[in-house]
Amino acid sequence: MSTTERRGLFITLEGPDGSGKSTQMRMLGERLRGEGRAVLESAEPGGTPIGMQVRRILLDPANQELCPTTELLLMFAARAQNVEQWILPALAAGKVVLSDRFTDSTLVYQGAGRGLGPDVVKQIDRIACHGLVPDLTICVDIDTESGLARAHARNLERPGRKESRLDEQAIEFHHKARAAYHRLAEAEPDRVKLVQGDAAPEVVAERVWQHVSSLLRSAAGA
Ligand code: TYD
Repeated sequence: MSTTERRGLFITLEGPDGSGKSTQMRMLGERLRGEGRAVLESAEPGGTPIGMQVRRILLDPANQELCPTTELLLMFAARAQNVEQWILPALAAGKVVLSDRFTDSTLVYQGAGRGLGPDVVKQIDRIACHGLVPDLTICVDIDTESGLARAHARNLERPGRKESRLDEQAIEFHHKARAAYHRLAEAEPDRVKLVQGDAAPEVVAERVWQHVSSLLRSAAGA
């Protein structure tokens, strides 16, 4: 399956941990379905059943010795499976694909947060994603401390789910990631839209919808 066969739209939701982007993705999916659109929702790291197995390695707090390069390659292993198995076929079928995180997460967390730099991330992206770039990326922004407080509260509510390895990184890691999101939005203003996440979910959803509806209009006119 090649990226040139795509007819659908690819929208990614990004943002710091605890920004509320997953809630926003669910609300957006419902709204799009309500408009009669076929929607595929995915989340990274994970998505496909194989990707979910990779996710367990990545997020298990027991895996403290995971090296930055291993972390990077596992993120892309899950993504490559997701792109081939789910995303490209759905786009070829004309669906709207929503992904909770994609390569921008790797740019900010592994590229900036871990200090691996953007070039290595972009190189592996070319292999794993076959040139697939989102049509629109909504970055739900929140200050690092409030986001992490929400993420930690969520982890406490789910004691059986061992998924906190990355949330538990030092605060500097998360500060670097958030700053990198801001730089990304400045560098690619047509694709990456920053949306303030510090409001009621319905209010944030309306902000998200402004950008999505504008994409849908321009896709319909194209
Ligand atoms: P998850 O439990 O899915 O939380 P969230 O709701 O914040 O997305 O955890 C995903 C974690 O993995 C999150 O801390 C961000 C991190 N991550 C990376 O470091 N690189 C990546 O490429 C991706 C997709 C996620």
